[in-house]
Amino acid sequence: MTIFSKVMLLRGVCSGSDARLRQYSSAAQSQLRELLSDQLSSIKEAGTFKSERIITSSQSTQITVQGSDQKILNFCANNYLGLANDPQIVKYSQQLLEKYGAGLSSVRFICGTQDIHKQLEQKLARFHGREDTILYASCFDANAGLFEAILTPEDAVFSDELNHASIIDGIRLCKARKQRYKHRNLADLEQQLRASDARVKLIATDGVFSMDGNIAPLARIVELAKKYNALVFVDECHATGFFGATGRGTEEYANVMGEVDIINSTLGKALGGASGGYTTGPAELISFLRQKSRPYLFSNTLPPAVVGVGLKVMDMLLTSSELTQRVQSNTLRFRSAMTKAGFVIAGEEHPICPVMLGDARLASAFADQMLSRGIYVVGFSYPVVPQGKARIRVQISAAHTEAEIDRAIAAFVEVGRTLKVIK
Ligand SMILES: Cc1ncc(COP(=O)(O)O)c(C=O)c1O
Repeated sequence: MTIFSKVMLLRGVCSGSDARLRQYSSAAQSQLRELLSDQLSSIKEAGTFKSERIITSSQSTQITVQGSDQKILNFCANNYLGLANDPQIVKYSQQLLEKYGAGLSSVRFICGTQDIHKQLEQKLARFHGREDTILYASCFDANAGLFEAILTPEDAVFSDELNHASIIDGIRLCKARKQRYKHRNLADLEQQLRASDARVKLIATDGVFSMDGNIAPLARIVELAKKYNALVFVDECHATGFFGATGRGTEEYANVMGEVDIINSTLGKALGGASGGYTTGPAELISFLRQKSRPYLFSNTLPPAVVGVGLKVMDMLLTSSELTQRVQSNTLRFRSAMTKAGFVIAGEEHPICPVMLGDARLASAFADQMLSRGIYVVGFSYPVVPQGKARIRVQISAAHTEAEIDRAIAAFVEVGRTLKVIK
């Protein structure tokens, strides 16, 4: 292509000529398109291509999706407390949007810290019973910014092999010795801790593993940490606000409140479902992260409307655990009826209820048939879960009514019989 025609194309781009933009393809770009198309075809052939359904309503237990006006029942959001479209929360968020504006166009240390950011950090610390909290744009960022900031080559991190991708990536970025222990396997963890001569030893685990709905053996991990002078880090994204008697998370569930050294969690699931993440723990750690943690130092501050969601949710959870109890009783209702019907539900006592099916195509066909009955669930298959362990991951919310849960169970039974998963 001549320089002249490139310039003409750029002019087309600037004046919004999409068709001309799409036509432009250098040799290198054509090569990239070809490489990626081949890989996309293989993903499709394997039956693991993830397509996105387009929701046209707010996030709720009842939603509408593009192409239909019919309400469908949603059983696949991380909206554990049902707060994602809570009117009080939306109203408060609007008030902060009006008072504080759309955003700050700045990172925290330049001019991105408002009084509301400090208030939210304090409330989160109070909720977890910790000294201080640092906010991030997401928990992915909190995980990406932790290990590299605090660990050196003299240190070691011991990570459960099934930890969330963001923990794995965060650990990849740090220079500490990286050790993986078998999933929830305390004997393997102990053997590695015993053999280690690292200066700082940090055990890293998800509190709840989101694909299986199973729980880290936290009481025993804390015990091992004490025995081998190690620190404990827990990612509480699938626990904060709703797991444990008052929603304080896995450490409350495991009866070791206050004994975990570092907690990372998200505002993007139970706590209003907007976005944002945080680290909570000892004051010196939080202070140090404000100086050294790269996603905090080099990324924009949380927008006021999002901070408003977090603040209102914290006010609700600091005064009542009613929603926590509701999601727990809804979970029990679903798990026991499904097990009685003959389904295998993985995990323990948690609103993540993976209905185990095995085959990827079966999981995808099952989800489609559920949707045709007005129930929105998603099939998970390789590489998100191991080969041959495809499943439908049902997630229960405090906002589901008992009638809605019973409707989902009835649809599961009907489809399960049609597809010969149960008798
Ligand atoms: C265990 C776990 N950690 C971290 C994250 C990332 O959280 P966020 O959406 O706030 O980036 C997720 C979200 O899927 C998660 O499930």
